[in-house]
Amino acid sequence: MKVAQTNACMGCHAVDRKLVGPSFKDIAARYKGDAAAQAKLEKKVRDGGAGVWGAIPMPSHPGMSAADIHSVVGWVLAGSPSK
Ligand code: HEC
Repeated sequence: MKVAQTNACMGCHAVDRKLVGPSFKDIAARYKGDAAAQAKLEKKVRDGGAGVWGAIPMPSHPGMSAADIHSVVGWVLAGSPSK
């Protein structure tokens, strides 16, 4: 997914295994059926934070556009389809 690749998300996340951060599949499973997840995770990617999966923080991404954050979070919640 282009937004994930060009914003270094894949330096800390993989689709199906834990790296520095949780796998995108695990994130999709955790928030399955949670109608508030899209907005909540968009904010988390933009502002960063820790404590949901462990003590390691995710850095903020203040330079990303709202549209890019929206599309990458939607992709993660959709189960990270390969196309
Ligand atoms: C420097 C490493 C790092 C980078 C870069 C990074 N993440 Fe993360 N990410 C983490 C860590 C660590 C967590 C777990 C945070 C926590 O426990 O609250 C996380 C958590 C998440 C979560 C789940 C948040 C939650 O509250 O459940 C999402 C969604 C996510 N990352 C998406 C992204 C996206 C999209 C990008 C690229 C724009 C990205 N991450 C870049 C390390 C990173």
